[in-house]
Amino acid sequence: MSQDYLVTDATTLDGERVDVEIRDGTVEAVREAGDADPDAFEECDTFGADGRLVTPPLIEPHIHLDATLTAGDPQWNESGTLAEGIDVWADRKQALTKEDVKARATETIEWLVSHGITRVRTHADTTEASLVGVEALLELREELDVVDLQVVAFPQDGVFTAPEHEDLLREAVEMGVDVIGGIPHNEHTREDGVKGVTTAVDLAERHGRPLDLHIDETDDPGSRFTEVLASEALKRDIGERTTASHTTAMHSYPNAYAGKVVSLLAESGVSVVTNPPDNSVLQGRYDDYPRRRGHTRIDQLREAGVTVGIGHDSVVDPWYHYGVGDQLDAAFVLLHYAHMSGRDDVGALWEMLTEANADVVGVGDEYGLEEDTEGSLVVYDARSPFDALRKRAPRLRVVKGGQEVARTDPATHTVTRGGDVRDVSYDRP
Ligand code: FE2
Repeated sequence: MSQDYLVTDATTLDGERVDVEIRDGTVEAVREAGDADPDAFEECDTFGADGRLVTPPLIEPHIHLDATLTAGDPQWNESGTLAEGIDVWADRKQALTKEDVKARATETIEWLVSHGITRVRTHADTTEASLVGVEALLELREELDVVDLQVVAFPQDGVFTAPEHEDLLREAVEMGVDVIGGIPHNEHTREDGVKGVTTAVDLAERHGRPLDLHIDETDDPGSRFTEVLASEALKRDIGERTTASHTTAMHSYPNAYAGKVVSLLAESGVSVVTNPPDNSVLQGRYDDYPRRRGHTRIDQLREAGVTVGIGHDSVVDPWYHYGVGDQLDAAFVLLHYAHMSGRDDVGALWEMLTEANADVVGVGDEYGLEEDTEGSLVVYDARSPFDALRKRAPRLRVVKGGQEVARTDPATHTVTRGGDVRDVSYDRP
């Protein structure tokens, strides 16, 4: 199959009109619109963007592909709490088989690709005794070429909450996971939580792997494990490959303490991933009024220079029943409940969706949309970054390594008014 592709007259995130030439799976040139020669490419490998937005591919840095598409099975999470989600999943995971996990994960991956995502970091529960979910996702990592998949060993129920959990985590690491996970706030005691962090950091150091911990995903301002992770990462000089996912307790920390943690994260180089769909519904559940919002301190973290990525987290599972695996939905939720609705926030949201997420999953210089970067891109049915977010615009073309891997034909809408059938467009000039 050809790994050549040409997109003509597309608008970049910086507002430039360009032609993008991909040869042998790599961006060979980004020229001023009109300067490329369409005759040098096969017609089926060419797309005329007519001024529409083009970006590097989207990235999903935080998802749970073992639990995806299980919402309501065996029951719904009626309280909406993280704790009930874990309980429902504890029931469901008794029935896991490799085929079941692979089928649901593959379907969700197809949803992700159709939304422009070509890299995925998935957590895999290691507290299920057969480790069948880990096995299934590791197999998919080798079998699927439409995404680059990373698997995180994730001890959902805690490492020290049952005698076998630590061995299961170590076994998953030996099986060849890409990333070491953890969940210190779900251990029984503060001391075990700290041990959960140091165990993960030790494993990551010994095996030379990155770290990505669910950490302080609670409204409890007394949940203070992010400081432990950042401190360990700083001492061992592994901040660049360490991620703190969620850190929602930071929302509720006293300002003086939050300032200390933000500074420590910045100094250590540890990145943060916020997961708006899940945390918008999971947090604040124990509050009367006023009810707290459930996101970390995105503005303060970014201001301090911390890389803040954005993940969808759950798709149709016990923690978040909704969604179609679209990162623009995650950004859309975030811009509302994190008050990122200003004009300047548009650039921040796109930076989180692209460059920050690329940093989190450890993509190097090959990421981007310039000469010698990977030949992967997304064209949106929108003419600006703002409009792409506003409409959560269809991804008209998704290209990975010079090959078209997804396309969407936009829906047409009509309204009948006064006997006339009128076309409706959501575009704005
Ligand atoms: Fe998660």
